[in-house]
Amino acid sequence: MIKRIGVLTSGGDSPGMNAAIRAIVRSALARGLEVVAIEDGYKGMVEGRMWQMNSRSVSDIILKGGTILGTARLPEFKDRIVRAAAIRNLEENGVEAVVVIGGDGTYRGAQALTDMGINCIGLPGTIDNDVSSSDYTIGFDTALNTVIQNIDKLRDTSSSHHRCSVVEVMGNRCGDLAVFAGISCGAEMIITPERGYDEAAVLAKLKYFDEVRKKRHAIVVISEKITDVNALANKISESTSFSGRATVLGHIQRGGSPTAFDRVLATRMGDKAVELLLNGIGGHCIGMLKNEIISMPIAEALALPRRSREELLALHERLI
Ligand code: F6P
Repeated sequence: MIKRIGVLTSGGDSPGMNAAIRAIVRSALARGLEVVAIEDGYKGMVEGRMWQMNSRSVSDIILKGGTILGTARLPEFKDRIVRAAAIRNLEENGVEAVVVIGGDGTYRGAQALTDMGINCIGLPGTIDNDVSSSDYTIGFDTALNTVIQNIDKLRDTSSSHHRCSVVEVMGNRCGDLAVFAGISCGAEMIITPERGYDEAAVLAKLKYFDEVRKKRHAIVVISEKITDVNALANKISESTSFSGRATVLGHIQRGGSPTAFDRVLATRMGDKAVELLLNGIGGHCIGMLKNEIISMPIAEALALPRRSREELLALHERLI
């Protein structure tokens, strides 16, 4: 039976990571385990930056954005020698198993550590919702709410000025933030990496909203890393009577107090992770599918195809 587990957050932070840390710590303590905080993700593991937590360590954090543990990206963790150094540090600190919170890169690190003898469980913490083993990732709902609050504001001014707002949202090659925000805001167009980008088709559609539908404004929600949104806004100004304006929401999407949905999701998932470790399970990740908290092997989760949002996009188009 294990006695001591570690917890870390890795990759881009997301609102709700703290709620997950709290759940892991309190659930572990309640089951007689000790918990060690590992700072700045796998980087802190390699550098031996760890400290013992108690119940008070996670007081007042359920409502806080970011992560109290700090986070980092460490591509070098793919190297077995780097991981061996990390494992030596875990052993020195008596850490027998670890819960990691992050995205797919974090999951790969967890699998690699498990293969080297340290059982790890992954929790999906990312605003991108790009982990197919869970209907929702921790932080997605909060980021989505941040996006829609901002787009609602842009709608006011776009309408006053007969403008087209091109709003770039994050997602790291997953269109979920764009799709869910576009539906929530009644955006005229949603452009995602999964659907692809055809500039001529975008301009033609905006011309139709302008000349045929006589819309006062248009909102285009577009995922990051698709095109230069300022250039697109200029082309909209040239080819329609809307004046185009681009807004890149950027890292504002990653901050803020988590929504109730993210807090509950993080709490349920954190507790489940501790249960699995106590049962001697490693190399698994936690998800929520159809409102049930589930777990599956990380290898299986990483091999799942990206969810199709075609049905949602078709629904959205019928209503615009
Ligand atoms: O994965 C989360 C995310 O916010 C992505 O949406 C985005 O592409 C990336 O991280 C940004 O990374 P960084 O914070 O390193 O600029």
